[in-house]
Amino acid sequence: MERTMTPVEQALEIKSLRRVISAYLNYSFAMEEDVKRWERSYEKLQSAHKELLSHLPQKYRDLRRCIGVNFRFIMSMLQAFDAPFDLSQDVDTDSQLDAAQTRRNSLDSDYVCHASVCDEVHTYPPFETTEQVSNCQPNSSDKCGNIKARVNDIQLDGAVQDGPSSISSADEVLNIMDDPRCLQDGAKAYQPRMEDTRTTGTEKMCQNAKKVSICGMDFLDPMLHLHVPPADVDKVRCIIRNIVRDWTKEGAKEREQCYKPILEELDNWFPNRSRERPPCCVVPGAGLSRLACEISCLGFACQGNEFSYYMLICSNFILNVTQAPLEWAIHPWIHSNCNMISDAIQLQTVYFPDLHPGSAGITDGFSMCAGDFVEVYSHSSQEGMWDAVVTCFFIDTAHNIVEYIEIIARILKPGGVWINLGPLLYHFADAISYSGEEEMSVEISLEDVKRVAAHYGLVMQKEKTIETTYTANLKSMIQTRYTAAFWTMIKDGNKQTSQ
Ligand SMILES: C[S@@+](CC[C@H](N)C(=O)[O-])C[C@H]1O[C@@H](n2cnc3c(N)ncnc32)[C@H](O)[C@@H]1O
Repeated sequence: MERTMTPVEQALEIKSLRRVISAYLNYSFAMEEDVKRWERSYEKLQSAHKELLSHLPQKYRDLRRCIGVNFRFIMSMLQAFDAPFDLSQDVDTDSQLDAAQTRRNSLDSDYVCHASVCDEVHTYPPFETTEQVSNCQPNSSDKCGNIKARVNDIQLDGAVQDGPSSISSADEVLNIMDDPRCLQDGAKAYQPRMEDTRTTGTEKMCQNAKKVSICGMDFLDPMLHLHVPPADVDKVRCIIRNIVRDWTKEGAKEREQCYKPILEELDNWFPNRSRERPPCCVVPGAGLSRLACEISCLGFACQGNEFSYYMLICSNFILNVTQAPLEWAIHPWIHSNCNMISDAIQLQTVYFPDLHPGSAGITDGFSMCAGDFVEVYSHSSQEGMWDAVVTCFFIDTAHNIVEYIEIIARILKPGGVWINLGPLLYHFADAISYSGEEEMSVEISLEDVKRVAAHYGLVMQKEKTIETTYTANLKSMIQTRYTAAFWTMIKDGNKQTSQ
């Protein structure tokens, strides 16, 4: 399936990736707007009330310090990211591209954030292009973005307690980044190396930003001035919550609820697996890849599949760049003041990764495949390739869940196993596309999902429900709980599933 991207497709990739990077870069500005709003409300208080809440100005300074810590991580992550394209190149905006962009943006902007469920829709491949995926067969993992060590251009910094009093300009963001006070809680966080510059303001911001050498070009400068829709920055906030779910000890309870039953089930179905010839497992919608990593450690040649650039940039960083457990710090709960039991909980630092992927004991053949599940795995080369398909909080991301199920059935070997866990919170329900048109969204009941699966030769072996959360702050006063469906189905070898 070797195919070169058309210029329009490539331009779309570039535009989409620029948009994602802009959202990451604008995180601290957006956060600063929030903090300013909170400060303005505080200032409106009459003096007696202000006095009662006299700790709040210090809290706002602390919040700015936390924003700086989060932003430091973001910059380091962008610095470590090798863009698959030269992002500095001019992208034509002819009508063909605009039309395609409209379609693409409809994916970008139909981002669903129901309660604590956060997901976003992008298709583009930092690790590997969709076009290359035919080479990405189980056990031929070298082309598939395997975990690999990289030399990290970072240095350890010191720590002090206080935070800056405002982030009023681009310059201030960098001052915060350069300020060792950003590194609350000791020397666990790392700071990207910054050179001294004699420039000021935005110029300095851009100069430093350019050091985030995603492709070593000036492309970051215009991206800093791009208007970033608030929804895009929300995706960055959601990624920070996803880090907690997948890579911190604070996420252990959620992983125990979601990932452990899947891992146990895989362990039971493949009792005689060997490291020499490990069974092949694919995890569509792999998010930040913890589940795929755990499946690999369990002795499977595992491939995660993901199409969100937000997710891919971050999982690349965690899988390929982190060098030790608990190397990085973030403050995941600073994005809202609502339902907080205490300021201390809101400002909490969490460290990641709780498990260092590079020393976790992964099995040969671990890879991440970037691209839309439907586009990638409906290719004929994928037919009957997989011993197991694992979907966790994924099947309801479909425009057409029937298509997902059909593909899952087709890519499984006869006797292969589909393990699923998740709700049916259809992501495109009520969605309006970027162009204003309504999105296709086939929303069927669990009963119908099982009937469709049976039609494609997937035979139910085990079924139950599991109570769980998704990227929850377990210390918050509000919790969204799912009664998620969990099942194991086996592909009936006698049923025809070819296209
Ligand atoms: C709700 S998240 C679940 C992530 C992960 N499985 C977990 O349990 O934390 C759904 C994931 O599927 C990804 N996704 C949605 N549609 C996709 C598609 N068509 N192809 C590949 N990934 C997709 C999203 O980007 C997102 O990372």
